[in-house]
Amino acid sequence: MSKMYHPSTPLPSRVREGHFGEAILPPAGVQPGPVYVYDAAIRLWHWVTFLAIIVLCVTGYFIGSPLPSVGGEAHEHYLFGWIRFTHFAAGMILGVAFVLRLYRVLVGGKHARQIFWIPFWSLGWWKEIFEEVRWYLIIGKPKEYVGHNPLAHFAMFFMFVLPMLVLLFTGFALYAEGAGVHTGWYTWFGWVFSVLGDSMTVRTWHHAAMWVVILFSMVHMYMAIREDMTHRQTTISAMISGWRFYR
Ligand code: HEM
Ligand code: HEM
Repeated sequence: MSKMYHPSTPLPSRVREGHFGEAILPPAGVQPGPVYVYDAAIRLWHWVTFLAIIVLCVTGYFIGSPLPSVGGEAHEHYLFGWIRFTHFAAGMILGVAFVLRLYRVLVGGKHARQIFWIPFWSLGWWKEIFEEVRWYLIIGKPKEYVGHNPLAHFAMFFMFVLPMLVLLFTGFALYAEGAGVHTGWYTWFGWVFSVLGDSMTVRTWHHAAMWVVILFSMVHMYMAIREDMTHRQTTISAMISGWRFYR
């Protein structure tokens, strides 16, 4: 028996997975059993990343558009110092969590791998995306999936994984620049300046990637809530308990 199913789920109640992850539900009249989709490491990573991104966007905003000067000696309130320190600390947490998440790609199941790879050359997959776009615009019919639906999958790869790599590499490069060219940080991340250009250009990439992730997050949160309310399957609780239920 696959560990995706609850041990007490009888065979006829099991929800199977189609080629692109579509849920194949049991025949009408049979209550579908739950499926274990997101393991604990993925769930923990999701919520740690969510919190880190909130902190990074707020502190990043103040780094990019600093407050007018605050009265008193700078070293006494150290306000901007604390904003930058919080940004760097959250950035380190985000970076370590991302590397650990990559480890899950190697040792986790197919749901741990999904957002890091896309079946770009499969026409069938693009057709499923088109169907999902129709549903997102509320002109098509909703369809159940065990993992992410193809449109979410597409957005997670292009609007989350790729810009996250840009944010992490440019962020650590800017940090390395501040730490100094003779530090280990610069040995590891100094090459980013050779690839992208001067400090201003790296900063612009960092800033632009932030907006892509913000855009993704806003649509993602709206859709997570909307899908939960309109589908036969649970959504938000799947990212909390790991189990997806069908009704
Ligand atoms: C900064 C904000 C957020 C970001 C960047 C983000 C990012 C992601 C990513 C990358 C995944 C894919 C996880 C994987 O397969 O490894 C995911 C899944 C998910 N997220 Fe978020 N998330 C955010 C906030 C939220 C919030 C606030 C909620 C709840 C309302 C939420 C609910 C979910 C759910 C339910 C899934 C699973 C979707 C599915 O079953 O297809 N996320 N999120
Ligand atoms: C979701 C992730 C992140 C977001 C949204 C974000 C956002 C920002 C923003 C908006 C700025 C200001 C850029 C400007 O001048 O306009 C900034 C600067 C900076 N960020 Fe990030 N950042 C993220 C991740 C990271 C990471 C992982 C690091 C690595 C430690 C990092 C390190 C830095 C550094 C060193 C600066 C420049 C600080 C300064 O010049 O005082 N960031 N970030």
